[in-house]
Amino acid sequence: MTYSVRLEPIGVDMEVEEDETVLQAAFRQGITLMHGCKEGQCSSCKSVLLDGDAEHEDFSTFALSEAEQEEDKVLLCRLFAYSDLEIELLNYDEELLSNWIPAKKVTGKVSAIEDLTHDIRKFDIELDEAMEFRAGQYADITIPGSGVTRSYSMANPPSEKNTLSFIIKLYPDGAFSGLLAGQVKIGDAMEVEGPFGTSFRNQNHEGPTLLVGGGSGMAPLWSILNDLAENGDSNPIRLYYGARAKKDLFYTDEIAAIAKKLTDFEFIPALSDMDSGDEWDGATGFIHELVERAYTDTGIGNTLEAYACGPPPMVDAVLPVFQKISIDADNIHLDKFTPATS
Ligand SMILES: Cc1cc2nc3c(=O)[nH]c(=O)nc-3n(C[C@H](O)[C@H](O)[C@H](O)COP(=O)(O)OP(=O)(O)OC[C@H]3O[C@@H](n4cnc5c(N)ncnc54)[C@H](O)[C@@H]3O)c2cc1C
Ligand code: FES
Repeated sequence: MTYSVRLEPIGVDMEVEEDETVLQAAFRQGITLMHGCKEGQCSSCKSVLLDGDAEHEDFSTFALSEAEQEEDKVLLCRLFAYSDLEIELLNYDEELLSNWIPAKKVTGKVSAIEDLTHDIRKFDIELDEAMEFRAGQYADITIPGSGVTRSYSMANPPSEKNTLSFIIKLYPDGAFSGLLAGQVKIGDAMEVEGPFGTSFRNQNHEGPTLLVGGGSGMAPLWSILNDLAENGDSNPIRLYYGARAKKDLFYTDEIAAIAKKLTDFEFIPALSDMDSGDEWDGATGFIHELVERAYTDTGIGNTLEAYACGPPPMVDAVLPVFQKISIDADNIHLDKFTPATS
């Protein structure tokens, strides 16, 4: 069965098949709706069902509470239609809708696997066909031998279209990341689909940029930072990066090198749980606390374009700080690395 979907307030009509989610149908028809995880975990695609019958597949009640369900709120990435639908988008971006890079599946080969720390790897795939993307977007990598995918943010700038570079944290039991501890080898075939994600660099922003991340959340920030450097951005750029101990820091030489290309750049790493032997005269504590101390009462919050990327608890802690320091909601970009559900 095919049903029609009316998207308000943008007044766009599309079709949805009964075996695809509303978000998948939108992607297929080149309509870009706000999304993050695509797995019912992050709430980026939250909308209101104004009319029609539809059912959800599994989702997290953190993304859509019971009270919100009572108010007919829905997650488009988990929503299947059982009749024609009318949906009100709570978040949408007119420019994004008309200026989107369609996702595609591309094959390639593993071209680099490097240790960045004891549990973070750089992982490169050389593509058989170029993939365009924006700094901050992600791709879905298929776990070899299964139809299952995992999402990873591109760490290289969009100018490098023939190689996708990723920064991946190892989980020993991880269906994909666990393979990077020795099972995946240079030259292995890979399949990726992308680009996805709506929290990418706003190329129209004229003003300071605030980048906040932790762990492998460096990936999209590194892409954005390199993109800013390549585009000769001369506005203030601050990179706040949280790690537990000194052994968890990486790219310090690369960051020093990129600093030389930028007019007004500062890197502020902070350690939250130092090892006993760590010699460290930098900042300590949680990264959201540092951002709060640095920007409260400065009066410049409303001039910032801000990005927070990494583990969900870190991103959840940073958001209220961004709001407290008066960053405009349209200038806040959150990229939560929510765990996969299959
Ligand atoms: C939009 C998006 C972008 C992402 N970008 C990146 C990225 O650039 N780099 C990156 O490293 N990851 C990123 N992730 C997370 C990534 O998609 C995977 O969820 C992660 O790599 C774990 O997958 P896995 O197959 O290795 O482990 P799974 O097989 O999914 O999980 C196996 C076990 O690993 C452990 N585990 C998995 N995830 C977590 C977690 N978050 N916290 C604690 N324990 C966990 C648990 O013990 C779990 O039982 C992103 C996620 C999203 C949604
Ligand atoms: S909850 Fe739908 S995109 Fe994350």
